[in-house]
Amino acid sequence: MEKILVTGGAGFIGSNFIRYMLQEHPYHIINLDALTYCGNLENLRGVEDEPRYTFVRGSITDRKLVDGIIKDVDAVINFAAESHVDRSIEDPEIFIRTNILGTQTLLEASRKHGVERFIQISTDEVYGSAEKGYFTEETPLAPNSPYSASKASADLMVRAYHRTYGLPVNITRCSNNYGPYQFPEKLIPLMITNALENKPLPVYGDGMNVRDWIHVLDHCRAVDLVLHRGRVGEVYNIGGNSERRNIEIVELIVRELGKDESLIRFVEDRPGHDRRYAIDASKIRNELGWKPLYSFEEGIRETIRWYIDNRDWWENIKSGEYLRYYERMYGGR
Ligand code: NAD
Ligand code: DAU
Repeated sequence: MEKILVTGGAGFIGSNFIRYMLQEHPYHIINLDALTYCGNLENLRGVEDEPRYTFVRGSITDRKLVDGIIKDVDAVINFAAESHVDRSIEDPEIFIRTNILGTQTLLEASRKHGVERFIQISTDEVYGSAEKGYFTEETPLAPNSPYSASKASADLMVRAYHRTYGLPVNITRCSNNYGPYQFPEKLIPLMITNALENKPLPVYGDGMNVRDWIHVLDHCRAVDLVLHRGRVGEVYNIGGNSERRNIEIVELIVRELGKDESLIRFVEDRPGHDRRYAIDASKIRNELGWKPLYSFEEGIRETIRWYIDNRDWWENIKSGEYLRYYERMYGGR
C-alpha cells in the first residue's frame, strides 16, 4: 500500500488520524474534505508542509472528483459525515446526502478501480440504546435518530458492496470519542469551553444518559490495526470501557476548572434520546490485540488542558457560523 484516501480529514477524528498515520507509516495521504461548518484546516496546522500529504477540497458526493482520486489510491478510509445528532433532528436531509449517498459514491469508485481495502468509520449509535448488556457486532441494528439511521444505512450499503461485488471492506463501530480538535457542539468540548467562558452548561433531560468514552488516539490506533490486519468483510466494535453518566462528566469538568456548579442547567431532553451506549470490544481485543491506552481520568484531564491552551482555536469557531447555530439551539435555554 502506498497511497491512502482519508475523507473528512479536516474534522475531529479524521485530523487526529492523519497526524497519527503520517507519524506511524510511510504512506502518502490524500485528504478529501468539503470543509463544512465543522471541517477546519486549523486542525491540520503543521501537516500542510508534509510532502506525503495532499489536501483536496470537495465532496464525497461528487462522483467525477471521487472517481479521479480513487483511481490512484490503494485504500479508502471514510470518516466524512454529518456527525451531530441534534443537527440531524433539526434537518435530516443533508445527513442522507452525505452519509448515505456520499458513502455509496465512494464505494462505487472503489469497486470500479479495485481498491485493496475500504474502511467505513461507523458508530455504536447504529445499535440503538443499550438498556442492559453490551453491543456486540451481532447486535441487531436499531438506530433511533436521523443521524444514526443514515450511518446504519451506509453500513448496509458497505456490506452489500462486499457481498455483491467482493469489495474488500471493513466497518468499525466506535463509541463516543473525546480529545483535541473536537468541535465545540459535542458534549465534552461544549462544556469545557462554556465553563471557561462562565456560560450555562445545558444538560439534556435528567443528565443520567450514559455514554462509553474513548480517547480519539485509541480510536485511531484501532482503525490502523483494522486497515492492516482486519479480516475482510468483518465489522469491529471499538470502545473504551469507560461508561459515564453525562452529569458526572459535566461535574468533573466544573470541578477541574474550579467553576461553580450553579452553571449547570437541566434543559429539555433531546427527542428520541438514547439512554445508554455500551460497547463490547472483545473481538478487536482478541483478534487484533488492540486495547485502549488512555484511562478516562487521564485523557479527560489532558483534554481539558488542551482546550485551556488552545483558546484561539475554539474562540474562532464560536464567533463564526457556529454562533448562529448555537443561538438557535440554546438561545431560549
Ligand atoms: P466531524 O463532524 O468533526 O468531522 C466531519 C468531517 O467531514 C468534517 O471535516 C467535514 O468538513 C467533513 N465532511 C462533511 N461532509 C462532507 C462531504 N460531503 N464531503 C467531504 N467531507 C465532508 O466528525 P467526527 O466526530 O470527526 O466524526 C468522523 C466520523 O467518525 C464520522 O463518520 C462519525 O460518524 C464517526 N464517529 C464519530 C464518533 C464521535 O464520537 N465523534 C464516534 C464514532 C464514530
Ligand atoms: O456514540 C458515538 C457518537 O457519539 C458519534 O457517532 C456521534 O457522531 C457523536 O456526535 C456522538 O453522539 P452523541 O449524541 O452521544 O454525542 P453528543 O456529544 O452530542 O452528546 C453526548 C451526550 O450528552 C448525549 O447523551 C447528549 C448529551 N448532551 C449533549 C449536548 C451537546 C447534553 O446533555 N447537553 C448538550 O449540550
